[in-house]
Amino acid sequence: MNAPLTSQHSAQLAADSGGDSPLASPWAADFPILARPVRKRRLAYLDNGATTQKPGAVIQALEAFYEQSNANIHRGVHWLSQHATDLYEEARERVRVLLNAPDSQDVVFTRGTTEAINLVAQSWGQKVLRAGDEILVTGMEHHSNIVPWQLLCARTGAVLRHARITDTGELDLDDFRAQLNPRTRLVGIAHVSNALGTVNPVAELVRLAHEAGALVLVDGAQAVAHAPVDVQALDCDFYAFSGHKLYGPTGIGALYVRGTILAGMPPWQGGGDMIRTVSFEGSTWAAGPQRFEAGTPNIGGSVALGAAIDYVLSIGLERIAAHEAALLAEATERLRALPGVRLVGTAAHKAGILSFLVDGIHPHDLGTILDTEGVAIRAGHHCAMPLMSHFGIPGTARASFALYNDGRDVDALVAGVRKAQKLFGV
Ligand code: ALA
Repeated sequence: MNAPLTSQHSAQLAADSGGDSPLASPWAADFPILARPVRKRRLAYLDNGATTQKPGAVIQALEAFYEQSNANIHRGVHWLSQHATDLYEEARERVRVLLNAPDSQDVVFTRGTTEAINLVAQSWGQKVLRAGDEILVTGMEHHSNIVPWQLLCARTGAVLRHARITDTGELDLDDFRAQLNPRTRLVGIAHVSNALGTVNPVAELVRLAHEAGALVLVDGAQAVAHAPVDVQALDCDFYAFSGHKLYGPTGIGALYVRGTILAGMPPWQGGGDMIRTVSFEGSTWAAGPQRFEAGTPNIGGSVALGAAIDYVLSIGLERIAAHEAALLAEATERLRALPGVRLVGTAAHKAGILSFLVDGIHPHDLGTILDTEGVAIRAGHHCAMPLMSHFGIPGTARASFALYNDGRDVDALVAGVRKAQKLFGV
């Protein structure tokens, strides 16, 4: 890490963090990367749905772990190993606090949301599902909440169904209710759609699913960094998220599992650390989340994820949500006012994600032109091809907000779109 550059740039940013505008971010100076110019322009990083940038506190936590605390966990009798184990288990407790889970033993560390969903499919799903059982997802799911279930269905003979979404990008509740039936064993829903920003009414969906006798898995990848999450209030059975979308490192995430369900789930990967005893006659498994954490886990990443959680909680997720809602409202209004711009996903309840199309310009071309202006967005199908098919489009341009974005990022986005329209003569 380049500490002098970081502090110098942070000071510069702090002096220039969006001024007195209500859309200014007091937190931008915490993120060293935002001080680096991109294509000789001020970076307007609006690809937070893909991954967020990291605050100094997280970068330093990672560095401090490897400088001061590195050892393997749950194995060593020596001091450093016990110290690293304590840090790892403290990080698990941080995740518990973030999600308001009842017990840190309900939290499994994974590589991220995708691995968490695959874990549920291969452990719980493989044990429970039988031919003819059903899994119900929504038409707005990310591929990671579709494909693991397709693989599971191919192995078990279960059937994957999906509930329709409306033209505004909301879940069609009538269709959801109609598709729930006594054969439904699991409902998989995004808390927030990565492609549209739609916030699903998870507590209500969980209530309906439980009434039908199904468990519920929530893909929280696009939710945890943007609003408070309470798995007890939602009453969901599984909740998955990725650290890197929460200002933490890549390669670390977590899965909450209701304790009574976790107790009955078989291992999905074998190896060290997940066993109680091993013999050639047979092996027995560790209790609790360790049963699902075979091999040496991402210890440093977990510790840095704990630092990321401390960081967002110290600001307050309600404040973050309010800041991003203001940015979304401003960007929505200004893009909507441009001729030839069509918003995709206009749900009444949205998080800070704005998908749109510009007449006569392919989203990839738009993304490339915005890049020349220092504006980073994502263009394409956003790993949600069935959703794009629903709208009859190959993809969208997507701007997604984080706590460090400010009014200048919205200005740069709007100016970039106008520039692209001029260049294309549309
Ligand atoms: N799922 C991430 C996104 O929506 C990568 O961009």
